Formats: sequence, structure tokens, C-alpha cells
Amino acid sequence: DSGLLRAPGFGIRDSGFDLAIRGGTIVTSTGAFDGDVGIRAGRIAAIGADVGPAADTLDATGRLVMPGGIDAHCHIDQKSSSGLMTADDFYTGGVSAACGGTTTIVPFAAQHRGQPLRGVVDEYLERARGRAFVDYGVHVIVSDPSAPGFGADLPALLSGGFPSIKVYMTYDALRLDDGQMIAVFEAAASVGAIVMVHAENTHLVAWATGRLVRSGRTEPRHHPASRPALAEAEATGRAIALAEAVGASVFIVHVSCRESLESIVAARARGVRVFAETCPQYLLLNAADMDGPGFDMAKFVCSPPLRTPADQEALWEALGAGHLDLVASDHAPYRLRDPLGKLAHGEDAPFTKIPNGMPGLELRLPLLFSEGVRKGRLTLEQFVRLTATSPARIYGLSPRKGDIAVGADADVAIWNPDLTQVVSCDGLHDAMDYTPFEEWCVTGWPETTVARGEVIWHQGQVHGAPGRGQFLPRPPTTAPDDGAR
Ligand code: URP
Ligand code: ZN
Ligand code: ZN
Repeated sequence: DSGLLRAPGFGIRDSGFDLAIRGGTIVTSTGAFDGDVGIRAGRIAAIGADVGPAADTLDATGRLVMPGGIDAHCHIDQKSSSGLMTADDFYTGGVSAACGGTTTIVPFAAQHRGQPLRGVVDEYLERARGRAFVDYGVHVIVSDPSAPGFGADLPALLSGGFPSIKVYMTYDALRLDDGQMIAVFEAAASVGAIVMVHAENTHLVAWATGRLVRSGRTEPRHHPASRPALAEAEATGRAIALAEAVGASVFIVHVSCRESLESIVAARARGVRVFAETCPQYLLLNAADMDGPGFDMAKFVCSPPLRTPADQEALWEALGAGHLDLVASDHAPYRLRDPLGKLAHGEDAPFTKIPNGMPGLELRLPLLFSEGVRKGRLTLEQFVRLTATSPARIYGLSPRKGDIAVGADADVAIWNPDLTQVVSCDGLHDAMDYTPFEEWCVTGWPETTVARGEVIWHQGQVHGAPGRGQFLPRPPTTAPDDGAR
């Protein structure tokens, strides 16, 4: 056995490849082995001990050759419900992704109340055209089922390349009530689409917020107390129950606490199709990190908020045990010292007025590698599954994306697992003026990123033009419900 695998229809070994990645340790979702990757016409054409001649070669000796990451939860080129644009668009966000080893993103086309859904999606695709730097799918945020044309637009989108939608259970301008959620779950279930849920009990958040505001505790440091873990856990349990009753697949985004994990684990044990993610900020930061005075702490304001060290530990355990499917960034880039960002209502604004979210596209993989793989909490294969293979499978990008496999797109990140660098905002490629991980010491970085066979990040340089990223229409990924329930 030469160890050489060939794609059906691909030529003989001597015909050569466009690009060969030689001598690295190839890490797939199921194993790691030393060898070469041969790339032709943007796809992986061979994997083996020695793939033979190629027009170009990347030497991967001493390096890890892993699938390019898929970030299935990031906000770019998106207007918030209060009218603020994210700082990153499809180009800056895509470059930042690529420099962090991510080759596919799935951001959100957000419906605001009254907007016809089809128009929202068309406009979003127009923003991507000519700007996208990495390949992208699009999730659709649904905030108004009473908008004109909704009843026809939703099923058409779900089965027409957009088989994943996100709904909110909180935020007054976005949230659906339980009845609306049931209707959306039913529409998704009928075509095998998946509903992503931002789960927080809005009334409990309003109550906790009111108490803080009435007692003058309105600095950013108080934001975590305004969104209790039980608000997240209650809504998580409710979303799962509604999905279970209707027969829908549900995906709980940005799980931050032990209590939410408990209802996810219990539902999975009884066979409910519930998927879930967490994000680096919930694994690596906690509320104590933002327990300081003044506006500066606004950089950590996100929802759900940062929790406790015990929650961090529970999330790491859940990742290791397979109770969480993937790690996404929830990149929500609002600049700190910018009136179009966190400063929208001034330095002294109460936390209720501060745009929610933090950046994370570029550091998602290095942070998870450094803190997860290097510290023995995750195996290399788990890292690959959590960051590439699972998002590809859950969101309909597989087998084209998400693994190193013959026939797949040649989306590959070549990692130096021993390179240590100190994080600084200046060294990142997004449009942000801060990173929540400033001065973190991170070991393990992607030195080269290849996307559809094209080297787009190498030796500290970005290569490739805006618009090189392609739209990825996706099929539904779960069995349609037969309505028998
Ligand atoms: O605080 C966050 N995460 N903002 C981004 C939007 C969302 O809810 O995912
Ligand atoms: Zn959310
Ligand atoms: Zn989000």
C-alpha cells in the first residue's frame, strides 16, 4: 500500500498537481498521520506518503496540516436593531478569518421588523458580491413573521440554499414569542432545516436589569448581573421543549452556563435533535475579568454575558465529552472608542445602551488550540471536529467543506503548533480597535491558509482579491418531519 489515495477521475500520479503540501502531519476529523496533500483545480486530489510532482510546493515539515476552519456564527456587514453597522464587512471580516485559519464563514442576513425576508437576503448577498474574501453561506435572522410575503418567503429560502435561520427570545426589536417560535419551528421541520436560537428569558432579563438600574448600578461591569444564568437556562429549556413538541431540529447558540448545558444534555439523551455551540469568550473569560470601573469594561459587554469560573469548567468538560457540537466566535464587532460602536450613547451611558458583542473571528482557532489542545483538554481530532467538520455537517457544507479528504475543496490551514505569540489588536486584521484577549500568550498559530487551492495567507502576508470568496448555497441537513406527532 503506497498510502496514496486518488479521487475517481483524477489523473495519474505523474500528471502532477497545481500545489502540494509536503511532509506535514495531516489532521482529519478521525485521525492524524504524516504525509502530503496534492491539490488540483481547487480541490484535494490526493493524500499520501509522497504525492509526486506539483507546480508549487508548500513545505509543511514540523507543521500540522488541518482543514480550514468554519465559523458558523459571526456577524459581519450586519445592521443591528438599533441601526449600528458592524465594523467588519465581507472583506475585512474574511481577511481576519483567513489570517486565523478560517476559510468559510456563515454570517447573518438580519430581518428587521416589517422587512420582506426575500429582500433582506437579496440585499445581503449584494453586499457580499465583490467583497467576500472567503467562501460563505448565509443564515437568516427572522424577527417578524407578519412581514409582507413571509409565508411564501420562509419555506422558499429554507429549501433554496438557506436551511438555517436564527431567532431571538430576547431583545424587544427582534424577539419572537412562543407562538411565533412554534410556527417557525414547524416551517423549518417540514423541510429539514434547522433553527438557531438565542435563548434568554426576556422578562427575567428585564426584571434583573430594572433592579440594577433603579439602584444606580449602570456601569458596564454590572451587565453580567442583568442577564442571569437562569434566564438563559429557562429559555434554553423552553426552546428545546417547543422544538421537541413540533419535531424540529434546534441549535442553541452561544451556550455560556452549566444550567443550559444540563437541559441540552438531558434532551440529547432522550433523542431530541438539539445541537449546541459555545464560544472562546465563554471558555476563557468570566465576569471577574470585567469587574472594573468605567467605560473600558464595555469591551466585554456581550449577551449572554461572561459567567463564572465554574461555568467555564463545565463548558470545557462538555466540549471534551461531546455535549457541545462546535465552537463559533459570535464575532460581533463594535469598536470601543467609536460613536458608531460601543460609544454610541457616550462614555456615561448605562450598560443597557451599549451595543452587545465582541470580536473573535481571527483568534477563535488559535485560542482554542492554545487553551484546548496544548493544555490537554482536547485532542487534535476533537479540535478539527469542533472547528470545521461539525459545523460543515450541521449546516450543510459537507462533504465539500470541513475535512481533509480527497474530493473536498482544498481549504487547508498549515499550523505551527509551537509558535508562541502575544496577542495585540494591532497584529489582527479585523476593523476593530480592541480585542478582549489583548496580551494573552497564545501557542499554536496558522502560518499559511489555503482556500480552494489558493494561498491567501502566508508568511505574514495576505494574498487574494476582494470578491474571491464564493457564496455557498446549502441543502437542508436533517430529515424532514413527517408531521405524525
Ligand atoms: O452580544 C452578542 N452576542 N451580540 C451579538 C448578537 C447575538 O446575540 O448573537
Ligand atoms: Zn445571539
Ligand atoms: Zn451572535
